[in-house]
Amino acid sequence: MSRAKISVIGAGNVGGIIALQTAQKELGDVVLVDVVEGMPQGKALDISQMSGVLRFDSKVTGTNDFSEIKDSDIVAITAGVARKPGMTREDLLKINADIIKKAAEAIKTHAPNAIVIAVTNPLDIMTQLVFKTTGFAKNKIMGMAGVLDSARFAHFIAEELNVSPKDISPMVLGSHGDTMVPLPRYSTVAGVPITDFMKPDVIKRLVERTANGGAEIVKLLKTGSAYFAPGTSVAIMIESILRDQRRILTCSAYLTGEYGLSDVFIGVPVELGRNGIEKIVQLNLTADELKALHNSAAIVKAGVNEIK
Ligand code: NAI
Ligand code: 2OP
Repeated sequence: MSRAKISVIGAGNVGGIIALQTAQKELGDVVLVDVVEGMPQGKALDISQMSGVLRFDSKVTGTNDFSEIKDSDIVAITAGVARKPGMTREDLLKINADIIKKAAEAIKTHAPNAIVIAVTNPLDIMTQLVFKTTGFAKNKIMGMAGVLDSARFAHFIAEELNVSPKDISPMVLGSHGDTMVPLPRYSTVAGVPITDFMKPDVIKRLVERTANGGAEIVKLLKTGSAYFAPGTSVAIMIESILRDQRRILTCSAYLTGEYGLSDVFIGVPVELGRNGIEKIVQLNLTADELKALHNSAAIVKAGVNEIK
C-alpha cells in the first residue's frame, strides 16, 4: 500500500507546524508549497533532519511548483497575507480570496481526489470559496477553526479549575471570529457540564477570553498570529481522516438544512473519517444558542457576498 500524500499550500508559520506534526505522526509524506523561493525547501530540509532524532520515516519536501501536489490525499491551505497597517478588512478579504482561488484551482487540476482543509482567514468565507472553486463534494471540503477554538476553551477551563485538560471535553460552534458560539452546557469536565458547578460570571469570562483567543496572542506576539495550536489542530484533523478514526471534532462544514441553515460553511460538530466529513452531528440547541449560531452564519454569508 502506498503512503498517503499530504500537501500544505502556504509554508509559513501554521504550514510549518502542520508539516512537522503530520510527519512526526507518520501520517504520510508531506509536500510544502509556497511562493517564496527557498523557504519551503529550507523548512522541509530542517524538518527532514529531525527524522533521525525523533525517528520518523515520513518524507518531507518543499517546492514553489504547485503541480507537485499531484494526487495528494489531503491538502491544507494556509496561504495568505496578514492584515498590515492601513489595510482595511475588505482589502484583506479580497487579497486572500485571490490567493485561495488560485490554490483551489491548483488542487482541482492536480489533486482532484483530495480532501481539503482550509485554514486561511477569514476562515469560513475562504472555506466556502474553496468549495465553490473546486466544485468538490461537500464532505471533502472543510475549514479548521472549531478544533482550535475548543482547545482554547478547554485550556482556559483547565487553568481556572487547576485540573488536567485531558479530562475536559469542550464544545465551541459558529464562525471563527467575534460571533463564535462557545456552548458551556455541552462543555464538560469528566462528563459533568461546567454549568453544573461553575459560576455564570466565571463562565462568561472564559467564553469571552475564548472568543478573543486569537487576538490575545496577536497582541503578545506583535508580528504575527498563533501557529502552534492552529497547526496542531489541523494535524489532528488530518490524523482522524487518514486513520479513519471518526473523531467528533468541530469543523467548518457546508450545511444543507442542519441547524436550520443552508448554503453556508459554519463550525458544527462532525465525524471525521476516511471520506472526510462522514456525518454532521446535530445537537439540541436552546433558542438562544440557535439564535447565536444563526447570527454567526449571517456574518459569514455577508462576507461571502462581498467577494462574489
Ligand atoms: P504566515 O504569513 O506565516 O504564512 C502564510 C504563507 O502563505 C507565507 O509563507 C506566504 O509566503 C504564503 N503565501 C502567500 N501567497 C501565497 C500563494 N499565492 N501561494 C502559496 N503560498 C502563499 O501566516 P500563518 O501564521 O501561517 O497564517 C496563515 C493563515 O492562517 C492566515 O490567514 C491566518 O490568519 C490563518 N490562521 C487561521 C487560523 C484558524 O483557526 N483558521 C489559526 C491561525 C492562523
Ligand atoms: C487565531 O485564532 C489568527 O485565526 C487565528 O489565532
